[in-house]
Amino acid sequence: FAPRHLLSIADLTPAEFTTLVRNAASHKRDIKSGSISRNLQGSLSGKTVAMMFSKRSTRTRISTEGAVVQLGGHPMFLGKDDIQLGVNESLYDTAVKSPIWQTFDGAGDQRSVRQFHPLQIIADFLTIYENFPSHASAGLSSLGLNGLKIAWVGDANNVLFDMAIAAAKMGVDLAVATPKGYEIPPAMLQIIEQARSGAPSPGKLTQTNVPEEAVKDADILVTDTWVSMGQEKEKAERMRAFQGFQITSELAKRGGAKPNWKFMHCLPRHPEEVSDEVFYSNRSLVFPEAENRLWAAISALEAFVVNKGKIE
Ligand code: CP
Repeated sequence: FAPRHLLSIADLTPAEFTTLVRNAASHKRDIKSGSISRNLQGSLSGKTVAMMFSKRSTRTRISTEGAVVQLGGHPMFLGKDDIQLGVNESLYDTAVKSPIWQTFDGAGDQRSVRQFHPLQIIADFLTIYENFPSHASAGLSSLGLNGLKIAWVGDANNVLFDMAIAAAKMGVDLAVATPKGYEIPPAMLQIIEQARSGAPSPGKLTQTNVPEEAVKDADILVTDTWVSMGQEKEKAERMRAFQGFQITSELAKRGGAKPNWKFMHCLPRHPEEVSDEVFYSNRSLVFPEAENRLWAAISALEAFVVNKGKIE
């Protein structure tokens, strides 16, 4: 049995991504109201899910462990210091049958796993779906979000890559503002372009080095850390380069964001990326977004572990 992997939103058709988000929404509704669908209940009963992590994590770990428990399984958290991973045993030998893991986009055979963040982006689009429900009616391949605009202000990192792929597939426009020299790499632009070419009504991607330009007419302002794990040595240089890229109400006003704009951040957050007055305001969706990691993980476990890659 060759498992189907979920390494990126690029692995999903627009219809599959739509189904994962819709299933996450419906499991959230059911479980919060005290019921769980018959297909899900006990679907991992008697099963142990090995969760191999080679980096620190709060949300990914908690949501995945919680999701396994909701389905009746036993989550086994295996941090890099708990097992022989990469020290005394190869990743291949260690991980032959583990369905979920998270690693550095560092050296060697681990590189591809951490270039994207698909569970985060399922949760993010669930959050957008819940907060922008009045858009055009949706078919099987769309969440009805066409015409929305996201402004990403900050670093072009792995979260942005999967967000750009999902936005392209869902007909959501994405404007990205990074400092000069920190733009989306050309190889990633090709992957995003492929996502656009497979979408029924693709979202537009634009890039700029001016935050105000990205923010213009945006419905949602998003950022993330300026210094991802593994980039600690570049911290001082990055702090200098990203001056002027903090998301504030003043930036949103100057740039001309839509009047009801919202703010998202996958967390953990650092104050230089977004001001407190935005982060803790009623524009901020960051805490529902974090909660939605649980429902996204349940939806992904159902599709990729319980149903072995069949998304319906
Ligand atoms: N957003 C996110 O993935 O958080 P953690 O790194 O804490 O899991």
